Amino acid sequence: MPRSLTAAASVAVLSFAMGAFATAASAEAAKPWMNTKLSPDERARLLNAELTLDERIGLVHGPMAMPFKIKTIPKGAIGSAGYIAGVERLGIPALQESDASLGVTNPLGMRPGDGATALPSGLALAATFNAKLAYDGGALVGREARAKGFNVQLAGGVNLARDPRNGRNFEYLGEDPLLAGTLAGESIRGIEAQNVVSTIKHFALNGQETNRHWANSVIEEGALRESDLLAFQIAIEKGQPGAVMCAYNLVNGDYSCGNDHLLNGVLKGDWAYKGWVMSDWGAVHAMNYAVKGLDQQSGEQLDDQVWFGAPLKTAVEKGEVPAERLSDMTRRILRSMFAAGLFDVPAAKSEIDYPANAEIARKVAQEGIVLLKNREGLLPLAKTAKTIAVIGGHADAGVLSGGGSSQVIPPGGAKVSIPLGGEGMMAAFRNQILHPSAPLAAIRAEAPGARVTFNDGRYVASAVAAAKAADVVIVFGNQWMGEGEDAPDLSLPEGQDVLIAAVTAANPNSIVVLQTGGPVTMPWLDQAGAVVEAWYSGAKGGEAIADVLFGEVDASGRLPMTFPVSIEQYPRVAMPGLGLPEKAQFDVVYDEGADVGYRRFAATGQKPLFPFGHGLSYTRFGYANLKVTGGDALTVSFDVTNTGQRPGKDAPQVYLTSAAGKPVQRLIGFEKVELKPGETRHVTITADPRLLGGFDVAGKRWSLTAGDYQVAVGASSADLALKASAKIKARSIKP
Ligand code: BGC
Repeated sequence: MPRSLTAAASVAVLSFAMGAFATAASAEAAKPWMNTKLSPDERARLLNAELTLDERIGLVHGPMAMPFKIKTIPKGAIGSAGYIAGVERLGIPALQESDASLGVTNPLGMRPGDGATALPSGLALAATFNAKLAYDGGALVGREARAKGFNVQLAGGVNLARDPRNGRNFEYLGEDPLLAGTLAGESIRGIEAQNVVSTIKHFALNGQETNRHWANSVIEEGALRESDLLAFQIAIEKGQPGAVMCAYNLVNGDYSCGNDHLLNGVLKGDWAYKGWVMSDWGAVHAMNYAVKGLDQQSGEQLDDQVWFGAPLKTAVEKGEVPAERLSDMTRRILRSMFAAGLFDVPAAKSEIDYPANAEIARKVAQEGIVLLKNREGLLPLAKTAKTIAVIGGHADAGVLSGGGSSQVIPPGGAKVSIPLGGEGMMAAFRNQILHPSAPLAAIRAEAPGARVTFNDGRYVASAVAAAKAADVVIVFGNQWMGEGEDAPDLSLPEGQDVLIAAVTAANPNSIVVLQTGGPVTMPWLDQAGAVVEAWYSGAKGGEAIADVLFGEVDASGRLPMTFPVSIEQYPRVAMPGLGLPEKAQFDVVYDEGADVGYRRFAATGQKPLFPFGHGLSYTRFGYANLKVTGGDALTVSFDVTNTGQRPGKDAPQVYLTSAAGKPVQRLIGFEKVELKPGETRHVTITADPRLLGGFDVAGKRWSLTAGDYQVAVGASSADLALKASAKIKARSIKP
């Protein structure tokens, strides 16, 4: 107590303090769910019991917080993708939802000038093979979200890349369930650790954008569990996302958001998921989705009706939807809110340190850039090069980003946005937005002694002349991809393949830097001296590209997706549903089952252009002392040594190559290691048993057959240096 108070004042203060204590205690008694010592389940149970029918209905639906098909946005909503009103009477905060995976978005500039740090694309993150960077990126998104007042991030895109043309591959994490699931889980964990709810999406098998609302994904149940669902399962276990967003498409005949089997059976049943299921925006087609497992209707103005408003209320009043089910819906929402800390540590506006956050984005970009090809001695670039010709790709202005709901606007607004035009719902998102981190300036900064010229690449003849006049050429190839559309083929658009072919023919010291949303074909590959896949590289992409080109950092990205020779190497050459009118349902038959990407290349003996896991380094790595032990679990250990002259980072990969005598290829472990020249690291990996076995549909569990299991350690799925095997006991595991 302050010493200067008089005795009378002290008594007054004391009694005030006691009064305050009593008030706090009675508030606590009145709101027992605010007791942080109780579990989120218990707190949710207590609060849920207080809700009236109308309050419950209010919590299970909400609009896009944008004046789109509605005149004004709800009072209190921050303009963003979604809003669910809270319940003031009980202190339940509103859900302020924004997209998410690549940074906090500002759709259609709803909040003028409010940008955010752009992380590199999901594929760039996956290419890092670095779980820590995934966590750091998630934590960054969570922090910026909180500081803008958001408490839900629509993040966690983990659909497996089954088609290299998928327009949203850049938001996802590649073709492998272990890699994608692990990194998605870590990035979700990073978001939730900032007291922000994260989703995981799009549940499930949203494998293409073409006519996505009418695509019926057809797949055998066991194969689904072993592939796309396994990625979700791993990510949910690791990241504990508060919500699962169901997808636009149908799965085996039922819409994802009304899919009893997927939602009630697999997610809430087999996996005992405790959070809530929210719909994708415009993915609810009927009120009875409430009994099929959907808990919340999002972006409701995009649906034909606010199904979870008056229709659901009437159905509950009539007993057509059990009141217990509605209560379960709100309990799940509240449970995730308590678990993430939305009641205890509410989001509050605060300053954001964008320069510091941009450095995190730069680290992800540096480790995600993949050196696909390098003619000995060309890269890293010598700082002594006299003339460098930089060509194309708007490299003078910034780095490319992908379009759609994940589009991040840089702090201060997008300075360069090249409209692509178009029609329909997604037309407003069809802009090539460049993040203001120009590779040209970064290259100039790395080579102050060189004359660095820029040619925009619009005319082949002048680009060729520029290439001929330089010691070294850095030519960019851009492929914009966006939500709502797939690439029609794997070429670089706008004649860039012709440009690159001419430039690489004119100067053998040509380095091709690709900024693509996924794999592309490379008709000019033989002529190129070096090829670098930079993906969409985010807030500091230009600097990160220059860092890799000049060897400021090692080239340590590894492909999270196979790069094919042509689309003919994939099971679906014609894009399913292309050209069909709206509302015409069609099947996308995934008869490759769980053999997604490299697994199918292995099963069919095809040779890709660049295999999954491939990526060169500026140093060399050797693997030795492989030991595999079996029994109840499969444990693999080996040494990785930097046998070259430079410090570097490697991502050694462990594959299962046969299971109980049956040839397979599955990634069962990976690690990112940083090594000085001559340094050795001992790596130990215990395989997730689900990756060793198969899903037994009739028995509804994972099952491992007893026998020999062979593993291989290598630098990519097609470069397996060491092999060994061990005997595994028969085992079955809960689904
Ligand atoms: C996308 C979701 C996104 C939502 C809200 C939808 O179009 O599919 O990924 O979270 O919009 O912006």
